Amino acid sequence: MEKDRRFVSPVLQRDEEQSERSIRPRHFEDYIGQSAVTSQLKIYIQAAKMRGEPLDHLLFFGPPGLGKTTLAGIIANEMDVELKITSGPAITRQADLAAIVSNLHEGDVLFIDEIHRLNRAVEETLYSAMEDFAIDMVIGKGTMANTIRYTLPKFTLIGATTRSGSLSAPLRDRFGVLAKFDLYTTDELSQIITRTAGILDVKIDEPSTALIASRSRGTPRIANRILKRVRDFSMVKGDGNINTDIVKETLSSLGIDEAGLEELDRRILRLIITSFRGGPIGIDAIAAALGEERVTIEDMYEPYLMQLGFLNRTQKGRTVTDAAYVHLGLPVPDRAPAEQDEKSDERSKEEQLKIC
Ligand SMILES: Nc1ncnc2c1ncn2[C@@H]1O[C@H](COP(=O)(O)OP(=O)(O)OP(=O)(O)O)[C@@H](O)[C@H]1O
Ligand SMILES: [Mg+2]
Repeated sequence: MEKDRRFVSPVLQRDEEQSERSIRPRHFEDYIGQSAVTSQLKIYIQAAKMRGEPLDHLLFFGPPGLGKTTLAGIIANEMDVELKITSGPAITRQADLAAIVSNLHEGDVLFIDEIHRLNRAVEETLYSAMEDFAIDMVIGKGTMANTIRYTLPKFTLIGATTRSGSLSAPLRDRFGVLAKFDLYTTDELSQIITRTAGILDVKIDEPSTALIASRSRGTPRIANRILKRVRDFSMVKGDGNINTDIVKETLSSLGIDEAGLEELDRRILRLIITSFRGGPIGIDAIAAALGEERVTIEDMYEPYLMQLGFLNRTQKGRTVTDAAYVHLGLPVPDRAPAEQDEKSDERSKEEQLKIC
């Protein structure tokens, strides 16, 4: 995925890699929220340990910045094995994959980020690696070609994707556990901010923590990022202690409004309201009108707008709710009751897939 320089982008930015490492939880006790996923995983980990076997392959899906990589690290830690991290676009040839998996040790965790971006040939090689812990490599060309089967150590694959809908069915079926990551509640984000502030040795009061949490789009990465910017403001403009005035000043300088929306969120809502009478309107038309990638809008903007109840995905397209008009200070239109109740369907494939 492209690096996104917008401040509220949930995507990891280059200069953040180092600082994320120091605040990334290493144990389940420090991993806040996502309890539907973690409570199941703890059982599977315990059972795998009792059997002395590696953990089943896991597929993590959900928007960026919600703790997929972090959880993979915790799992490897709990299983007391090594974690090898790579990504779909980085594995371009079968030989690359072969090199990675053959260097694993028994029980190790291989984490493939953006697994939906693996190419066809590599994906097919991965099938037998996952299922039979073996890969077949063709050596030589033409009549001299020979297939050699390499046996691999039994490893656990954790695939992560922002879009499970883009995953082929054969690949998805080879994961024993599918885990969906949800946006965090403000209460959970407050706990995360308090923990990060402790690690960074930042003094912050409870109302300031709650304020940052409520503006962080349900995403720990953004919560931590705002906290760091607030710390900068408090050092330069105040005495280093964080209070709500400093938080408000920082947020307004970053263009983040009371609901945690940034400019592109507001442009999406305003576009649907002014150009498409509140919708329904298809996602491609929205993306074209805004000059943005469809995936950017779907993965990074819509989940939070939907969580706030400002946007619905209906069978006919996207619609804006009355709450969005109110938030933008626009008059709420008179609508027929049937139109208002139009059910927000589109439980996309991702939403229907729960940890199982
Ligand atoms: N449950 C959590 N509790 C505490 N901190 C968290 C939690 N989840 C994520 N974080 C923090 O948020 C940061 C981002 O998490 P992480 O890199 O794991 O997200 P991700 O889902 O892998 O994102 P991406 O899709 O961009 O790879 C981490 O460095 C960590 O500090
Ligand atoms: Mg990650």
